[in-house]
Amino acid sequence: MIEVENVSIAHGSGRRELSTVEGVSFSVSAGELVALVGPSGCGKSTLLYALDGLITPSEGHIRIGGDEVQGIRRDVALILQDAGLLPWKTVRQNAALALRIQGIEGDAHETLDSLGLADFESSYPGELSEGMKRRVGIARALALHPRVLLMDEPLANLDSLTREKIQNLILDLWRTLHFTGVLVTHDIEEAVFLARRILLLSPRPATLTEIVANPEAGAPDYRGSDAFYAQVQYLRTKLGADET
Ligand SMILES: Nc1ncnc2c1ncn2[C@@H]1O[C@H](COP(=O)(O)OP(=O)(O)O)[C@@H](O)[C@H]1O
Ligand SMILES: [Mg+2]
Repeated sequence: MIEVENVSIAHGSGRRELSTVEGVSFSVSAGELVALVGPSGCGKSTLLYALDGLITPSEGHIRIGGDEVQGIRRDVALILQDAGLLPWKTVRQNAALALRIQGIEGDAHETLDSLGLADFESSYPGELSEGMKRRVGIARALALHPRVLLMDEPLANLDSLTREKIQNLILDLWRTLHFTGVLVTHDIEEAVFLARRILLLSPRPATLTEIVANPEAGAPDYRGSDAFYAQVQYLRTKLGADET
């Protein structure tokens, strides 16, 4: 479904050139949910934006469904860090924004309804709790009915209870909607709870250091089990070992 082949990304040019991602290759099967984990500033968002076609790699290839990614596409949706809501637009307008940008008719009413936001369609982001704002961000992406859902730290800076609730929600949505998911997070526990495979990135420039199999992700009662903590501990050690 998603093929990333030897991708490098640099910002700027000449002496100011800064390499952010270097020689990264991986693939994600249709309907799989993987996590990209790495230290702050390593290049996770940059790589995700490249998957969304917002950034063109300086080297390598990214293919989705066999086609080279060239700009944004209808079947790929991105959830921005901190939801990226426009404060002067209502929940309804914010949730329909991706549809409008893609020139697609229709509204996000059903999606908002399925995320428990039907009663807040006329509210403004400033009137919502942080957790509700994130759900509007999720609704905006899902209104596209994407085959691929890219998520950039969708739950950063939430209190832990709200974060767990929305993690469960993402899992439910993934099970019912069957999208292919790429979740960027610096939260190791979140990656272990949600993703069947966890791709570890080094500090900038991001290189892929290891792909950790995590077959129990999504299983009932996994969170809180010994196996869960062992996996979290393993990843912590791996990421810590990369720090210099
Ligand atoms: N447009 C840009 N121009 C120059 N540097 C950038 C640009 N975007 C990101 N960077 C730098 O690239 C690095 C990786 O950024 P980012 O992908 O946002 O990291 P992460 O999401 O892992 O925290 C950071 O050091 C950041 O300062
Ligand atoms: Mg980021």
